[in-house]
Order: sequence, then C-alpha cells, then structure tokens
Amino acid sequence: MTEDNAKDRIRVAVVIGSVRRPRMADPLAAWLERELTAIDGLDVDMIDLAAVPLPMHEMRPGGAAASPIAGRLAEADGFVFLTPEYNHSFPAPVKNVIDWHFTEWAYKPVAFVGYGGSGGIRAVEQLRTVFPELRATTVRESVLLPMPWEHLDVEGRFVAPPGTAQALGATMEELRTWAVALRPVRAGLAART
Ligand SMILES: Cc1cc2nc3c(=O)[nH]c(=O)nc-3n(C[C@H](O)[C@H](O)[C@H](O)COP(=O)(O)O)c2cc1C
Repeated sequence: MTEDNAKDRIRVAVVIGSVRRPRMADPLAAWLERELTAIDGLDVDMIDLAAVPLPMHEMRPGGAAASPIAGRLAEADGFVFLTPEYNHSFPAPVKNVIDWHFTEWAYKPVAFVGYGGSGGIRAVEQLRTVFPELRATTVRESVLLPMPWEHLDVEGRFVAPPGTAQALGATMEELRTWAVALRPVRAGLAART
C-alpha cells in the first residue's frame, strides 16, 4: 500500500466462530491473525466469541445495546468469519453473534474462512443466505480448509497447505474492494440520521 492509496486502509473484525475447548479454531485463528496482520493496509481486530458473553435470553430484535462488542463491530469496515462446519451448517454461536447485532453489519462486506471435514463449505454457503437480511454483502472469494488437523506442525501450529495463501489474498483483496466502495454509502446514511 502506497501513500497514494492509504485511504484504502480498512479495519477488519475477525470473528472466531467456535467456542469449544479444545478447538481447532485456536491454531487457525493464530495463523489467520499472523497472515492478516502481515497484509499492508489492514487493521485487524480478533473477536473470540468464547470470550464474549452474549446470553441468548437477552437478545432483542434489531440488536441489543448491551452488547460488549457492538462498538468493535461498528468500527469495522468489513468482517472475516472463521467458521467450522457443524452438522452441515455453521455453529450456534455464529448465529447468536449475528442476531445480537443489526446496524453493525449494514453495508459492509463479509468474508469467510471455513474449515472442517469438508472444508466448511456448507457453513459458508448457509451464511451467505443470512447476511442480506442484515444488509451485508458476502464476498465471492473464500478460504476453505478441509481437515486442517492434518496440517499442524510438531508444536501444534497450523501450516497452510499449498494454494491457501493465494485464496486468502484474493479473499482479502475482494473484501477491501467492497469495504472501500461501501464507505460513502455508509457515510451518506449516517449523514441522513
Ligand atoms: C457437533 C459437530 C458436528 C460436526 N459436523 C460436521 C459436518 O457436518 N461436516 C464436517 O465437515 N465436519 C463436521 N464436524 C467437524 C468439525 O468441523 C471439525 O471438528 C472442526 O475442526 C471443528 O472446529 P472447532 O474444533 O474449532 O470447533 C463437526 C464437529 C462437531 C463438533
């Protein structure tokens, strides 16, 4: 990123969708954070749903003011969901964090890093049907990681298989394109309210 396009700097919130202990999400989130912080022009905020209390009984339609992460989501220009696949869909905590919020997602792009036995493709595709209701757009490119537990080194760190870096690069470039393009849309809406 040059000074000329420094205005294309974006803030990305990464939502870690598994809250299990232990979980594959740990080495994957560590890898993803390393990769994303190395990309020029990205400010990365890792949001671990395991550390965020969002009790389902307190949820309200249209989002809840009491959310401890509403501010962090609102500040983001775009999102990356790191999501496993459970029973051919995405995990309940992912739906919960989506439902807890509303305006925070609006007119922003959402990208996916899916994983699981089959790479998380069914979780990702089902999430694509959810986000339009929040006025969010999902990016075409994605990263799918089948059987990531087969790509851990002796210290338990995820070593991405060939092609992953290219897929992540393409995904993040598309996310940036949408995030920058939608900024004036969000600014226009904010000016009207
Ligand atoms: C309840 C449950 C259901 C699962 N169902 C699927 C599935 O339908 N398809 C798949 O590919 N993997 C499935 N898996 C495997 C997970 O995607 C895989 O274990 C993943 O690494 C879990 O991520 P986590 O450890 O970060 O929660 C399932 C795992 C769990 C716990």
